[in-house]
Order: sequence, then C-alpha cells, then structure tokens
Amino acid sequence: MKYKRILLKLSGEALMGNKHFGIDNERLAQYALQIKEASDMGVQVAVVIGGGNIFRGIQAEEGGMDRVHGDYMGMLATVINSMALQSSLEKINVETRLQSAIKMEQICEPFIRRKAVRHLEKHRVVIFGAGTGNPYFTTDTAATLRAIEIEADVILKGTRVDGIYTADPEKDKTATKYDTITFSEVYEKGLEIMDMTAFTLCNENKLPIIIFDMNKPGNLKKIIEGTPVGTLVEF
Ligand code: GTP
Repeated sequence: MKYKRILLKLSGEALMGNKHFGIDNERLAQYALQIKEASDMGVQVAVVIGGGNIFRGIQAEEGGMDRVHGDYMGMLATVINSMALQSSLEKINVETRLQSAIKMEQICEPFIRRKAVRHLEKHRVVIFGAGTGNPYFTTDTAATLRAIEIEADVILKGTRVDGIYTADPEKDKTATKYDTITFSEVYEKGLEIMDMTAFTLCNENKLPIIIFDMNKPGNLKKIIEGTPVGTLVEF
C-alpha cells in the first residue's frame, strides 16, 4: 500500500451523474463503493465534497446575490452532499463521522482536528463538510487545508477527466496527458488544476496531488496500491 492516509476531494457536479441538478443515487453508491474498497485495504480515508450540484456561490453573485451570502449557501450545499455520502457509506457498513466547519450540532460534529485524526486512527471514514467555513475559499482549498491539518500523504482529486493534459482534451484533439508533472511546471505552463490558493497551499506544504477519473470504478484502489493512474503532481 503506497499511502497510509489520504484526502479524497470529490466535486459536487460529479454527483449529478447524468442529471441536471441534485444527486444521482447510482453515482453516489458507486463512489461509496470505491471508498469502501479503499478503506478495506487499510488506508485512512478523509473526504471533502463540493456543492456545485446544488448551489454555486459564484453564479449566485452573477445573478445579483451578495457573494458572501452565496458562498455560505454553497457551504450548506456541501453539507447536504456530505450527509448523502455518509448515508450511502453507512448503508454498506462503512463507519463514518461527519464534521462541519460551520456548527450544526443536531446533524454532525463540529470540525475538531484532533478528533478527526482519532476517528481516522479508529478506521472511520471522516467527511469534512461546509468547506473552510469562510467565504471566498473553494472546496479545493478546504480539501487542501484539511489534508494538511490531518497530515494526509496525498490529496486525490477525483474529476471527470483522467489527468492533466497539455491542453484541454475536450477542445484540442492533439492534447496529451502527463503521468507526472512538477509544481513548478504547472506554474510555468499556466495549467489549471485547482484554484491557485489551493494549489499554492499544496506546494508550500509539500503535499502531492493526484488528479484522476473517479468515475472509473477501481481507480481509487489502484492509486492506493501504487499503480500510476491519472497525473501525479510532485516536487
Ligand atoms: P470515540 O468514542 O472517541 O471513539 O468517538 P465517537 O465518535 O464514537 O464518540 P462520540 O461519543 O463523540 O460520538 C458518538 C456519536 O455521536 C458519533 O456518531 C458522532 O458522530 C456523534 N456526535 C458526536 N458529537 C456530535 C455533535 O456535536 N453533533 C452530532 N450531531 N453528533 C455528534
């Protein structure tokens, strides 16, 4: 097993599957199964999910809503997705704990770093909801921050594409995939992997990133086994 503790970042949009809004139960169950497979291998798993399938703060601002207000609504959307994933994991007997950056004590624990680490040591999947609890930060930044706080070995960003390409593969047919790339190359080439705040936080704290296709069953397990999947951003 290559990693002992991972932080898996899932996008809210990916949870929609082929729907236009909300949560696709099949996709959700498929993600839960992949997480169970990983957890059964003995790796400690923490998860951060976005909320874009329910609400996007930035789009709300374009529609005239106050940005900060929209961002808080987006954070609540991540809690809904986190609860859905929690339920889906528990249905297949994976022990979980949900911690929120915004206190909602009736439905989940507050974020307490030391408690989160304890849960991971007891082999519970820990889901972090409500982003960083602050507006103007993305869930990628929340995922990075939590990964650093819990001292994860790597951040695994599950996306629709299977890695980082020389150009946008949906627009440019000649684009090729990188198996590995360094942080400085990403800066030099101006590639967009995650927002710059999140990316810089990973760079400054020596946290490697793997970008991979989470919609392909088995990929998560392969990464944990050490099989190269997707693109590894390293130092
Ligand atoms: P250990 O006893 O340390 O192994 O961890 P534990 O999570 O089992 O203990 P705890 O007694 O803290 O939690 C028992 C259950 O209550 C778990 O399902 C927690 O997620 C849940 N829980 C703990 N704190 C809160 C809270 O503030 N709000 C909510 N809604 N649930 C909580």
